[in-house]
Amino acid sequence: KTDLRGKHLITLQEWTKEEIDTVLDIAYDLKRRKALGEKHRLLEDKTFYMLFFENSTRTRNAFETGMTQLGGHAIFLTPSETQIGHGETAKDTVEVLSRFGDGLGVRYCTYKKGNAYIRELAKHSRIPVLNMQCDMYHPTQALADIMTIQEKFGKNTRGLNFTISWTYAPNYIRPLSMPQSLILLMPRFGMNVTLAHPPEFHLLPEIVEQAKKNAEENGVEFRIVHDMDEACKGAHVIYAKSWGPIAYTGSREEGLDLIEKYNTWVMDGRRMKLGQKDAIYMHCMPADRGVEVTEEVMDGPQSVIYDEAENRLHTIKALLAATMG
Ligand code: CP
Repeated sequence: KTDLRGKHLITLQEWTKEEIDTVLDIAYDLKRRKALGEKHRLLEDKTFYMLFFENSTRTRNAFETGMTQLGGHAIFLTPSETQIGHGETAKDTVEVLSRFGDGLGVRYCTYKKGNAYIRELAKHSRIPVLNMQCDMYHPTQALADIMTIQEKFGKNTRGLNFTISWTYAPNYIRPLSMPQSLILLMPRFGMNVTLAHPPEFHLLPEIVEQAKKNAEENGVEFRIVHDMDEACKGAHVIYAKSWGPIAYTGSREEGLDLIEKYNTWVMDGRRMKLGQKDAIYMHCMPADRGVEVTEEVMDGPQSVIYDEAENRLHTIKALLAATMG
């Protein structure tokens, strides 16, 4: 439908709905081809660089395995094993990698640094730069999430109720990239979005404003509640994720006090029952089992967490093929 070759992906908000649908179409096709054992070496002799400032299980292995299955090669880089650790600039790094290879992915989640660094790379890059998670967005996770919802409810997701909720986590700080990506994307797929969090655990105001705008433009509801039970009522999709109270303001001590105050914000079987009968439970993982979500929910019949994780591979392969093919 659309030509994505050479396109950067920093946030899906900067991609049209048609471009996102195109990647999903490719992902469904690649998933089918893999299941049938059909070769799909769309990126033969291509090289993709993966620059990780933080650890990863799903994202790294989805990109690396994806490149292998597409007939290409992925190279794992970290700041300490490159000259980035010695202060080499984003421009110099990407100028060189652009002359060697065909694509660059970056994970850098440090607040006020990650997104800016990825944008600086993209500015100087002649190969597609893909955001593998930053302080603001996690677009490849959101792609897998929409694919998973479509697989469970059908491609037409209009009218579904999507709840994204904070849950208790012992870490006082967590990146906001997941909830921010989800509240932006789900209204564009026709879903009513409920964002639930304790008052102090807010997201970036400009992202919330944009999410409201997306909802208005797509004729769906967007609401914020500070009660987890209220948020789960009538939900088709319950995505209970933890994020920190003081990612942007306050002190560590205040943050820990707030965590203690809200430690009943746990996703459990009772809360799942407040949703629709066919509701699904999602989590991008890693999850704090038994802390932010009970084992009963994680391993229960409504949980789709492993399908969701598997779809990281198919959507990432689609993204690689579309931007580097
Ligand atoms: N969901 C996700 O991004 O997982 P990883 O941190 O393991 O990549």
